[in-house]
Amino acid sequence: MQMSNRISGFQCSPIRRLVPYSRDAVNKGIHVIHLNIGQPDIKTPVEAIRAIQGYDEDIIAYGISEGELFLRNALVSYYKRYGIQVSADDILITTGGSEAIQFVLMTLCDPYDEFIIPEPYYTNVATFANIAMVTLRPVTSSSDDNFVLPSIADFEKRINKKTMGILLCSPNNPTGHVYSPEELRNLLELCRKHDIFLVVDEVYREFCYDGKAFTSVLSFPEYQDRVICIDSFSKRFSMCGARVGAIVSLNHEVIESALKLAQARLCPPAVEQVAAAAALTAPDEYVENVRSEYERRRNVLIKHMQRIPGVRCSLPKGAFYFVADLPVDDAEKFALFMLRDFSYNGNTVMFAPAEDFYVTKGLGKRQARFAYVLNEDELVMAAKCLEEGLKVYRSEVMGIRD
Ligand SMILES: Cc1ncc(COP(=O)(O)O)c(C=O)c1O
Repeated sequence: MQMSNRISGFQCSPIRRLVPYSRDAVNKGIHVIHLNIGQPDIKTPVEAIRAIQGYDEDIIAYGISEGELFLRNALVSYYKRYGIQVSADDILITTGGSEAIQFVLMTLCDPYDEFIIPEPYYTNVATFANIAMVTLRPVTSSSDDNFVLPSIADFEKRINKKTMGILLCSPNNPTGHVYSPEELRNLLELCRKHDIFLVVDEVYREFCYDGKAFTSVLSFPEYQDRVICIDSFSKRFSMCGARVGAIVSLNHEVIESALKLAQARLCPPAVEQVAAAAALTAPDEYVENVRSEYERRRNVLIKHMQRIPGVRCSLPKGAFYFVADLPVDDAEKFALFMLRDFSYNGNTVMFAPAEDFYVTKGLGKRQARFAYVLNEDELVMAAKCLEEGLKVYRSEVMGIRD
């Protein structure tokens, strides 16, 4: 049977497509350290777990398509703590931030419309754009200057009649860059000039390091008609499996239009919305402890990675990822080698080759994205495995004598 041409053009996620090889490694008795995926080992707030345990409805019924009012009201109070004024009507609850991105692209774009995105970017956006038949126009940021935002002129050059908006991610997955208020304001001005939207994925909002404060795109009320925020409970409360996210916008046409998509998929997960609202009642220390734990883990992994000959990476400012240049011919081949042909004292490491985090073909071939979501012992062992793996790969596969 033939599958659609459309689906054959879609990518398998570079974060997940090596999973069968990691399963084989595990079956051989090898401990695989997962730096490929942002699945934290941090406990979900006990308030959320208890809410699920205490769910005592007789029927797990459909809820309303925009998401339960108790959750939207809880989010209104949460945003207020960031100085952001929104109402429950400005929020559409989605099945994770993933659905929020899809809904936004479908809501703003007709087939073959364009969205500008800095690359490397959150690779699953490629599939969401494919579903919506939207062309992603990349603006390349570089490891040479810590992946700072490319110039406004670079963005402007890519704007044409089909451009509907710019999609940012801050703090950034995969680079760890956090956009400054000035960068956001300059982009907002550009968006106003060309009458397009600025969509910012802020699912890592709490995870900013080195004392740096976070600025939300929602804190610029003078641009509110063209601002859309993507949000999610997955990372903030280590509840990735709950699948609760949100679209937040003071532009009511956006929320009302996206609601058509939300109605067709009926409602977001019912029990998990109860858990999400309960997570928002966790004491402030919960998120602060998680943030400082990630900061420690970042410091450990970066310190050990920077000592590996030929590896180049800089300290990310936020989220829990970074992109490293590796001294290999092809990061995907090296990732496969690590899972299939290599172990160090019974351990190996899995990471995400970075090529598919770029729209531009050929970029990122020698780069990989690493997530520092595991405990320090695992991170130290992962860096050791990489160092030893690189030695073997370079000599046996690349034929290089270091
Ligand atoms: C930048 C970014 N946006 C959105 C998502 C999707 O999150 P979820 O669908 O779990 O809310 C992720 C997940 O890793 C992400 O890294």
